Amino acid sequence: MKELLQPLCDAFGPAGFEDEVRELIREWIEPHCDEVRIDTMGNLVGLRRGNGKGRRIMLAAHMDEIGLIITQVEDSGLLRFSQIGVVPLKTLLGMRVRFANGTLGVISLEGGAEVEILSRELPDMGKWFVDVGAREREGLPVGVGDVATLFRPFADLGERVVAGGLDDRAGCAVLVETLRRLESSPHDIYFAFTVQEEVGSRGATTAAYMIEPDIGIAVDVTSTGDTPRPKQPMAVRLGAGPAIKVADRGLISHPRVREALVQAAEAEQIPYQLEVLPLGSTDAQAMQRARGGVLAGAVSVPCRYIHTPGEMIDMHDLEGAVRLLTAFLARPWPA
Ligand code: CO
Ligand code: ZN
Repeated sequence: MKELLQPLCDAFGPAGFEDEVRELIREWIEPHCDEVRIDTMGNLVGLRRGNGKGRRIMLAAHMDEIGLIITQVEDSGLLRFSQIGVVPLKTLLGMRVRFANGTLGVISLEGGAEVEILSRELPDMGKWFVDVGAREREGLPVGVGDVATLFRPFADLGERVVAGGLDDRAGCAVLVETLRRLESSPHDIYFAFTVQEEVGSRGATTAAYMIEPDIGIAVDVTSTGDTPRPKQPMAVRLGAGPAIKVADRGLISHPRVREALVQAAEAEQIPYQLEVLPLGSTDAQAMQRARGGVLAGAVSVPCRYIHTPGEMIDMHDLEGAVRLLTAFLARPWPA
C-alpha cells in the first residue's frame, strides 16, 4: 500500500484546497465504482452497489490536512499567517512550508527564536512569520489568502513510515484499497473522501446529509499511548492492529456498530484494539448527527506524533484496517 500512501502524503491539500488529493483518488477509484460524484463542497463519493438486501453504509476518510494561511504581507516581504486546523506551534520553528504554486518558505519567530523557545512559553501566533526569501513586498509569488502546508515528505522506514499528511491520507489509502479488494457485499457502500475535516468535519456534514446512510464509519488516525509519558493515557499501541473506536471527544460509537466491527475482526482473526481517545475527533461525529441520526463508529489507524511533520504509522495496522473493513462489509448487517 506504500504505492498509494506516498503520492497521497506528498500531495498538497490543506482544508478547503483538496483538489490535488481528490484527482489522485478519483483516478484510482473510478474503475471500481458503479458511480462517482464530486459534490458542491468538494467531497468525492464513490458508490459500490450491493445486491439490494443490505444496508446503506457510508465510509469516510478526509482528504484535507492542517496548514497555514497568509493573513498579512509586510514591506520587508515577510508574511504573517494563521493556522488552518490545529497546528501545534512548537513544531513550527525552522519548518519549511510549501504553497500551492510550489513556492517554498521557512518559518521563524520574532525576538530571537532560541531565547523564546528556551523561555518555555510559546509565543502567540502574531510573533511568527514565513520567509520566502524575498527582498521586499514587490513581486512576491504569494500573498494574503494563499495557503501552505508544512513541507514534510514521505519517508519509508520499512515496517513503519513517516510523513506529515498521514492524518488522514492513511485513511484515504485504506478506503481505496478496501474498494479494490472488496469482492461482493450485500450493502450499498458509499466511499466518501471528505473535505475540511480539520476545521470541523464540514465536508462530512453535507456528504452525510446527501447520502442518508444507515451506518457511518469514519476511517482516520488515532493517537497512541506507547511513547514515554504520553500527554494522555491511552491503551492504543502502534503495530498492535487497527483500533475500533469506543469513544472520543465528539463521538460515543453506537454499540451495535462497535460490536459488528469486533465480530468481523474476530471471525477473520484480525488483531484489533479498542480505542478511547480523550482528545480529538473524526468525521464520525458529523455522520452520527446527520438528519435523524445515523449508527456511527470508526476504525482508526494508530499514529504517533499526530499533527507534527513526523506522523508515524505501522504498515501492519494499515493492512489490518483494510482486512477489517473488507470483512465487515462482506457480512450481512446483524439483525
Ligand atoms: Co487531524
Ligand atoms: Zn484526521
